[in-house]
Amino acid sequence: MATESITDEILRLKKERNAVILAHSYQRPEIQDIADFVGDSLALAQKARAAECDVIVFCGVHFMAETACILNPERTVLLPDLDAACSLEASCPAEDLAKFLEENKDKNYYVVAYVNCSIGVKALADVIVTSGNSRRIIETAPADRPILFVPDRNLGAWTARQVGREMTLWNGACHVHQMFTRDQILAAREAHPGSPVVCHPECQEEVRLLADHVCSTEKMIGFCRESAADSFIIVTETGILHRLRQLVPGKEFHPVNIEKCSCAECEFMKLNTLEKLRNCLRDMAPVVRLEESLRRRAEKPLLRMLDLSK
Ligand code: 13P
Ligand code: SF4
Repeated sequence: MATESITDEILRLKKERNAVILAHSYQRPEIQDIADFVGDSLALAQKARAAECDVIVFCGVHFMAETACILNPERTVLLPDLDAACSLEASCPAEDLAKFLEENKDKNYYVVAYVNCSIGVKALADVIVTSGNSRRIIETAPADRPILFVPDRNLGAWTARQVGREMTLWNGACHVHQMFTRDQILAAREAHPGSPVVCHPECQEEVRLLADHVCSTEKMIGFCRESAADSFIIVTETGILHRLRQLVPGKEFHPVNIEKCSCAECEFMKLNTLEKLRNCLRDMAPVVRLEESLRRRAEKPLLRMLDLSK
């Protein structure tokens, strides 16, 4: 009897477990290819909420699987590697935020949390945003309360400028997007003259200012598809290049070379592999588990975001 390939094994186990595989656009190509759905944080949260299955396998980082679990307490959520963390999430510990809010009680902040944060931070927030909807959500924030935006100072500054509203920004950042610099963008422009620069809002201002378009990973696909250009410089984690090449055929996508390594990879995203995906479906572990009262508190601002994003 022929031995079963790892992809056949995953597909068989997926059926047996009545599971759905969700994957972020920064996942390894082979994981994206076997997933039922690939998308950005917003689309994945929406898919997770609508999922009709017993098991959700979340190929992404921990806060993303946690978000799926907050929205689906009755389903089993698996994350192929529990160590898939996020430096942006780590830049805002829930205890530090709670302390800051306590010390600034008189300000009565309206807390807007980027989805890249822990369940503890979500539980302290009034509303959650993603890079795909931050402008739309913040436009609905009460006009009579000051806004505190956590944890990403870059997405916060970009959104504040778009909405035309001042916000207090938590001093957090993503180590991958922080690596891009002005000089690298200028060098990429020189190497690929005429190619529009498309960058993620987690990049620093000096990079965003040089971009032709700033948007979430999902919106990059639409922008490149609709643009008259046939070559683009993509300033974000390189996993998105696989999707762009699949979904926008016939056009060229160039990553930006960064100093310390040849391309920008999120090592946490890349922790998930086909083997770990197969193992988690086979062993039904690791499971993401949440404390129920904390889950209920974190669910409220997430549902507010999903309702405002309809
Ligand atoms: P998106 O919201 O564009 O999916 O980005 C998530 C992320 O982790 C970016 O680093
Ligand atoms: Fe977090 Fe940055 Fe990795 Fe996105 S790319 S998951 S923000 S560490």
